[in-house]
This record gives sequence, C-alpha cells and structure tokens, in this order.
Amino acid sequence: MNSNRILTYTLNNNIKIPSLGFGTWTLRGKVAINAVKWALQEGYRLIDTASFYGNEAEIGKTIKESSVPRENLFITTKIWDTEQGYDETFKAFERSLTKLQIDYVDLYLIHWPRERRLETWRAMEELYEQGKAKSIGVSNFTQDHLKELLANAKITPVINQVEFTPFLYQKKLLDYCRKHRIKIEAYSPLTKGKKLNNPILQEISNRHNKTPAQILIRWGLEHNIIEIPRSKNKGHISENIDVFDFSLKEDDMKRLDSLNENFRNVEDIIFSSE
Ligand SMILES: NC(=O)c1ccc[n+]([C@@H]2O[C@H](COP(=O)([O-])OP(=O)(O)OC[C@H]3O[C@@H](n4cnc5c(N)ncnc54)[C@H](OP(=O)(O)O)[C@@H]3O)[C@@H](O)[C@H]2O)c1
Repeated sequence: MNSNRILTYTLNNNIKIPSLGFGTWTLRGKVAINAVKWALQEGYRLIDTASFYGNEAEIGKTIKESSVPRENLFITTKIWDTEQGYDETFKAFERSLTKLQIDYVDLYLIHWPRERRLETWRAMEELYEQGKAKSIGVSNFTQDHLKELLANAKITPVINQVEFTPFLYQKKLLDYCRKHRIKIEAYSPLTKGKKLNNPILQEISNRHNKTPAQILIRWGLEHNIIEIPRSKNKGHISENIDVFDFSLKEDDMKRLDSLNENFRNVEDIIFSSE
C-alpha cells in the first residue's frame, strides 16, 4: 500500500490532486473491476475514466464497494464529442454521475476540442459553480485552442490532459500551460508499451534498478506533471506506483528530454477543418 507516498499538486483553484493516477481506457467489465480494485488496494486514489470508455458503471460499482472514503478519491471523467453543447453537457454530466454512483466529480474534462467547445465550457463553468464538478479542464487542446478558451472563459481550466512522454516532449505546450497555471496531465505515459525497449531508457533504468515504465513515470513527475498509466496486470499496477523512492537528476532528465521524436499513439480521429 503506497498511498501515503503519492505526492499531490495544487491546482489553480487550490484543489489538491494526486501526482499519479490510474488510467482505464480499454478496461471493461470484470477486467475493469479487478484492475480498479487492485489499484485502490495499491494506493492509487485518482481514477481516470470517460463516458467514451464505457466503463463508468464498473468504476462506480468498484469505488462504492471499496473501503476508501469518497473524499479520499479523485474521480475524473470526460464529456464525449457527441455529447457536447450547452444543454447536452448537463445531460451528459448527469449520465456520468448516475453510472459512477457519485454526486460530484473531482474533475470534468472536455475530451476533445470540437465545434461546440465554447458552449460546452459555459455549461461546465456552471457545473463548477454549482459544486457538482470540483474542477473543470480540457483534453487534447493545442495552444490555439487554449488561447481561444482563455479569451472567452470566466474560469481557467485547471488541466490540459494530453499525450506526453519523452518521445513526445511537448515543451512549448508545457511552458504555455505553466504560464497560465494549467497543469499538464500526461496520457499514454508509458507510450502504450511501445518504447520500453529504447536503449537510453533501458540504460537509465538499469542504473537506477527500476523498470523502463517506472523511469517514464518518474520523468513526468520530475517535470511536475500528472501521470495516469493504465494496466490490467496486478504486478504492473503495483510497479507503476512504486516511483516515489528515487529521483532522476539533471543529466538523466536531459537525456530523456532529448528522446523527443514527436511520437504519437493517439491521433485525432476526426479530421476537422480547424
Ligand atoms: N484524453 C484522451 O484523449 C486520452 C487518450 C488516451 C489515454 N487516456 C488516458 O490515459 C490512460 C493511460 O494511457 P493509455 O492507456 O493509452 O496507455 P499507457 O498507460 O501508456 O500504456 C498502457 C499499456 O502499457 C502496459 N503496461 C502498463 N504498465 C506496464 C509496465 N509496468 N511494464 C510494461 N508494460 C506496462 C499495459 O499492459 P498491461 O495492462 O498488460 O499492464 C498497456 O498495454 C488511459 O487509460 C486513459 O485513462 C486519455
């Protein structure tokens, strides 16, 4: 049980968020239930889901049956593309709450920047003001999308959840977000397993007596970003949280930063004219 070791960050609205959470994309049914159960046992408190993932009900059931008090959990969900729009957002939000069996979410995100993103944001600001979403944020927003949002919003998003690894080191976006006190939350932080054999990563991991997955997670934490690795494997779930007993020094960080090759796992599935 590692929960007391997970460090927290403070978001721009003064809410605390664990620096490491549990991703749940593709986890369904019994696999999702077991994985989230193991994650909670291991000490993860942030659970990342989305209406699109089709597992909110399983997550709801698992957190309800767990012994972890609601106030110690940090539940993130996201509004899907087809649910966006001012009125539609309230309905989508209620659907998610019902499936999750909770009466507030800790973080509600716009999953992708679509045409109705500004009206969607207006509704999310109301959900925030009503206390139903303790924090609101965005995902997959570019700097241009963020600029547009900041020019129109009453409330600054607390988070931009984007793909972020040494192999996709989005330094400009990170700097821009920092300047505006928007936290980067890294998805696919393990490159979906595709780059774990990289020789530099392997060398650094051997030297620290840690696995490549642990080095990737630690790299994100050293950059002060939130990491949400996913696994259905009990051993990996335990391994991925065991990253708070070592650090990476400047030299290792520089070498990892230099692995950037704009490697993306997730491409936008909608070819918009924007
Ligand atoms: N906002 C968005 O648009 C968006 C997009 C993508 C993802 N996300 C979120 O980010 C989360 C994480 O990203 P992801 O699921 O794409 O990928 P990921 O966390 O980078 O990688 C998951 C893969 O890595 C493997 N793995 C996990 N731990 C490992 C370890 N210690 N050693 C070796 N392999 C390991 C897993 O296999 P096993 O299950 O066998 O361990 C799985 O195949 C998602 O689950 C989701 O919550 C959000």
